[in-house]
Amino acid sequence: MSKIFAFSIRKDEEPYLKEWAAAHPNVTVDYTDQLLTPATAKLAQGADGVVVYQQLDYTSETLQALADQGVTKMSLRNVGVDNIDMAKAKELGFSITNVPVYSPNAIAEHAAIQAARILRQTKRLDAKMARGDLHWAPTIGREVRDQTVGVIGTGHIGRVFMQIMEGFGAKVIAYDVFKNPELAAQGYYVDSLDDLYKQADVVSLHVPAMKSNYHMINSQALAKMKDDAVLVNVSRGPLVDTDAVIQALDNGKLFGFVMDTYEDEVGVFNADWSAKAFPDARLKNLIDRPNVLVTPHTAFYTTHAVRNMVVKAFDNNLALVEGRPAETPVKIE
Ligand SMILES: NC(=O)c1ccc[n+]([C@@H]2O[C@H](COP(=O)([O-])OP(=O)(O)OC[C@H]3O[C@@H](n4cnc5c(N)ncnc54)[C@H](O)[C@@H]3O)[C@@H](O)[C@H]2O)c1
Repeated sequence: MSKIFAFSIRKDEEPYLKEWAAAHPNVTVDYTDQLLTPATAKLAQGADGVVVYQQLDYTSETLQALADQGVTKMSLRNVGVDNIDMAKAKELGFSITNVPVYSPNAIAEHAAIQAARILRQTKRLDAKMARGDLHWAPTIGREVRDQTVGVIGTGHIGRVFMQIMEGFGAKVIAYDVFKNPELAAQGYYVDSLDDLYKQADVVSLHVPAMKSNYHMINSQALAKMKDDAVLVNVSRGPLVDTDAVIQALDNGKLFGFVMDTYEDEVGVFNADWSAKAFPDARLKNLIDRPNVLVTPHTAFYTTHAVRNMVVKAFDNNLALVEGRPAETPVKIE
């Protein structure tokens, strides 16, 4: 009988872990809510593989501590592998898997909902309602079907976002460094980012963050956009020069900004500041604006996505344990 041990299982993950365990009676599943550290690694004693998810680094000491328990098969419930000491993992002969795609709809829906909320000025309307002002004017909405939506990055998430916006009746145009042949045949692509900025009323980013696109949305890019454009970033904080966006909000160039990811989010997002001094004045400035919708990197956080992260990680780990090829192995180099 194989045994899989899972670390840092949250309450919202527990039902899906139990569902997986019930569907695999030949596997012993055990878990803890504690993070994987050199000290907690011993909890995995006797296991054939571990399932993990944490921001905390998988250091050389942590990996060694796992290997000391005889465990070298590790499956992440998330995408990111940059916090793993890969040299040590290689030295110890680790096999690692991740879950690169768990629910593109979770992120695409969030982007679409927030963009539509900006267009309908719902934050202003909600504030008016809360203070008892039941006037309509001047809080007038823009219909999504009247917008040209420019999608930068037509991968898993960008493509779902395009479908949702088309469902509202918007005209959708797209840009990608690698064109999807199906979308190309349907005529979605414009030739350049400049073309997209020139035509789009809503500009939505769905690309990974790399050195080459750091601050791709800077003051020059913003200047090329239409007046009253809406900018949506549910992808990665470093894609956007936050100061340039604040300037474009101040001078009225941007109608609104959707921000689920922030270049300085590490150590600030996913924490409760309600009883403490807020640590980032620039972020507070954005949160307080009536035409900015900030969420703390929660676009992915749905029941569907969490279930997939748990189930796919366990499926991967069982494959490793049973010596079968895992669906999404991570290259260790
Ligand atoms: N907010 C969240 O909770 C959340 C969750 C998951 C993913 N994301 C982010 O969403 C983004 C998209 O993820 P995905 O799964 O759709 O990725 P993907 O790899 O499926 O698609 C990315 C697309 O971007 C294109 N691309 C890369 N660089 C480009 C550039 N400079 N200009 C134009 N196109 C470029 C690629 O060719 C690809 O088609 C990523 O940044 C990812 O980190 C956010």
